[in-house]
Amino acid sequence: MLLLTGATGVVGSALLRRLVAGGSRVRCLVRDPRRLGAQRVRVQIALGDLTDPPSFRNALRGVSTVVHLAASIRDQPRGSIEELNGIATWRMVEAAERSGVERFVFFSVLDASTHHRARFFRAKALAEQAVSEASVRSIVFAPSLIYAPGDPRLTLLERLALLPTMPVPGRGRAICQPIWAEDVADCVIGALRANDAAPHALYELAGPETLSHNEIVRAVLRSLNRSRPLLHIPTPLVSRSLRMLEAALGPRAFATWDEAELMEVPMISARGVADAEALGVSPQRMRAVLGAG
Ligand SMILES: NC(=O)c1ccc[n+]([C@@H]2O[C@H](COP(=O)([O-])OP(=O)(O)OC[C@H]3O[C@@H](n4cnc5c(N)ncnc54)[C@H](OP(=O)(O)O)[C@@H]3O)[C@@H](O)[C@H]2O)c1
Repeated sequence: MLLLTGATGVVGSALLRRLVAGGSRVRCLVRDPRRLGAQRVRVQIALGDLTDPPSFRNALRGVSTVVHLAASIRDQPRGSIEELNGIATWRMVEAAERSGVERFVFFSVLDASTHHRARFFRAKALAEQAVSEASVRSIVFAPSLIYAPGDPRLTLLERLALLPTMPVPGRGRAICQPIWAEDVADCVIGALRANDAAPHALYELAGPETLSHNEIVRAVLRSLNRSRPLLHIPTPLVSRSLRMLEAALGPRAFATWDEAELMEVPMISARGVADAEALGVSPQRMRAVLGAG
């Protein structure tokens, strides 16, 4: 039995389709099973929440492999970014060790570090440390920006593209190597199949193009056949406005500073597509996936 957390997310939904099609027995730890759509009748469901570690124990019964994708780039009413990404992963891997899990697959982020400027990267660094120090065999993926047409980030850009000018936080110069969620899911399947005997494996996942945030915005505009000038909003103004918006609207805020800050953070792998290719995957270009030339 494989336990998948984050099965309703961008990577999780692509991975779940592959696991189910391949005949794997899958249990999904979810907050709301309806969000699994048609797949909910094809899997076992364990109701759970990252902020509720006792829910992990039930979910882990009889499980040999955990793929832990659930995460959050914004604070939630019941848990902070640190609790949802750092502490919850530590509790999950601890529970996995206790229940005799053989393999723990975890998604960190490229360049996670405890000194990083962004809270999400610091929380992922602590989580990565907990996973790599655990006695259970682990596979850690450190991806650059992951995207899929229709995902919340691209949907927000598409909505902003309705404005006469396209607002961009900061100078938009931070670069990343975007990788399509479908390619990421293929990498996970590749790693599960490879069944590497190393106690702790690490794969950096990056797409074949290096794009700045400005170039990503322009690619989205091109895919929509829209032409808009980019309006760069100074970082302190973005930070102050989004913090005020989140304080006023809480989870209903359309964007938060913690999310916007991630667009100003470079996410580059010196290994490029090498790790994905080692897993049998040739990642596609973002502009091709979006139909933007
Ligand atoms: N997307 C990127 O650019 C990127 C970059 C680097 C690393 N990563 C990492 O890659 C992994 C997959 O990313 P993704 O883009 O597929 O994430 P995503 O689309 O944001 O999905 C997040 C998943 O986590 C679940 N979740 C959130 N809060 C939860 C909670 N309190 N309890 C239980 N489940 C909760 C969500 O479930 P609900 O349906 O209930 O909300 C959803 O299934 C994550 O670990 C992420 O941090 C992503």
